[in-house]
Amino acid sequence: MGAVGTTFIAGVLAIRRGLASPIGSLTQMGTIRIGKRTDDNVQPIKDYVPLADLKDLVFGGWDVFSDDAYVAAKRAGVLESPILEELGDELRAIKPMPAVFEQEYVRNLHGDNIKPDASKWEWAQALIADIEAFKAKHGCTRLVGVWCGSTEIYKQPGAVHQTLAAFEQGLRDSDPDIAPSQIYAYAFMKLGIPYANGAPNLSLDFPAIMELARQNSVAVTGKDFKTGQTLMKTILAPGLKARMLGVHGWYSTNILGNRDGEVLDDPDSFKSKEVSKLGVLDTIFEPKRNPELYGDIHHVVRINYYPPRGDNKEGWDNIDIFGWLGYPMQIKIDFLCRDSILAAPIVLDLALFMDLAQRAKLSGVQEWLSFYWKSPQPVQDDVYPEHDLFIQHTKLKNTLRHLMGDDPITHLGAEYYD
Ligand SMILES: NC(=O)c1ccc[n+]([C@@H]2O[C@H](COP(=O)([O-])OP(=O)(O)OC[C@H]3O[C@@H](n4cnc5c(N)ncnc54)[C@H](O)[C@@H]3O)[C@@H](O)[C@H]2O)c1
Repeated sequence: MGAVGTTFIAGVLAIRRGLASPIGSLTQMGTIRIGKRTDDNVQPIKDYVPLADLKDLVFGGWDVFSDDAYVAAKRAGVLESPILEELGDELRAIKPMPAVFEQEYVRNLHGDNIKPDASKWEWAQALIADIEAFKAKHGCTRLVGVWCGSTEIYKQPGAVHQTLAAFEQGLRDSDPDIAPSQIYAYAFMKLGIPYANGAPNLSLDFPAIMELARQNSVAVTGKDFKTGQTLMKTILAPGLKARMLGVHGWYSTNILGNRDGEVLDDPDSFKSKEVSKLGVLDTIFEPKRNPELYGDIHHVVRINYYPPRGDNKEGWDNIDIFGWLGYPMQIKIDFLCRDSILAAPIVLDLALFMDLAQRAKLSGVQEWLSFYWKSPQPVQDDVYPEHDLFIQHTKLKNTLRHLMGDDPITHLGAEYYD
């Protein structure tokens, strides 16, 4: 129920009332070609694959603050008054359930809409009861979970994360290494509900939770919504690489003033974000395979909390590149972006595609949804994640074609027109 969550909910409510367009959403605005170019068969994605209709969606969530979705959206300051006033009644009816929260994991947040002190096992059971009550109250046939909560402090998986048995024992013992976001993921997956992790948190990428995903045949995907600066990086870097232009350095800095920025002001939360943001260039440039071009890149990422900017982040990139005979050049990007405006359509697409994946019995890591992630989770540990936005886009569309029994488009068919 923070900036991203409320911008997503209010946006869908506005779109289905005809007040706005779903710009940025592939499921709502994208098209897909089927067959050869000469077949002239291009369809809207939402007509091609059986996605849930926006008018059938209902929303619920948890937060450490008790503000309803209207108050939370106002406070987040992303959407402006006229649209929020128009949606007021619907938004006010969405009240956050009390959160599972531990101060240690998000140090700069101080809310009081928190579940009573109990063991982590009891917290997991309480979340399961919340989800079941929500489903019954709204008469839902299916559910999807998308984490839009804060970034937790950086942690590596420990012994408690290695097997499902160890993790469940850890819940009973309230093991300090089990983060609140992991308890939410566990609750959803225990109920067989597909789950997407929008933060850089360690929530899905450890063996115990993947064991649960396999056991309950649940679709999962993560992590960290690809918006703003990283989106720009994964658009630009594949182009530089495709043309074999070298890179000496990539310096990225951001100022932002929303609550996410405040949370990231804690160095341990920033560390989670930094790790997620830094991985991108390495897998696109493959420095080991291209040492002369990318073997010595200085990649630096900074985020500074600067309240006057609110949700309207400014991200600067300075890229030192070199070309023919090693001659240096520079690229500067100054992206005046709106973080939650870029993230909201991703939440919608993930909810709809994850629901589709679960119905299509695609369980485990949904690599075809890497398109949406800063730090895409590979299907298995010995496979590198795909960061190139254009390869990700091709994989996504070919997966849709495959699901519908059509041929993938590889441009390598027998005929010239493929
Ligand atoms: N906005 C973007 O473009 C973007 C991009 C990538 C990732 N993200 C990630 O998405 C998440 C949400 O971003 P945001 O801008 O909406 O932040 P936000 O601070 O506005 O919202 C996060 C909300 O989560 C709540 N929260 C924290 N811990 C919780 C818990 N244990 N249980 C329930 N609620 C909890 C907070 O109270 C807050 O209201 C962050 O982790 C952020 O890093 C955002």
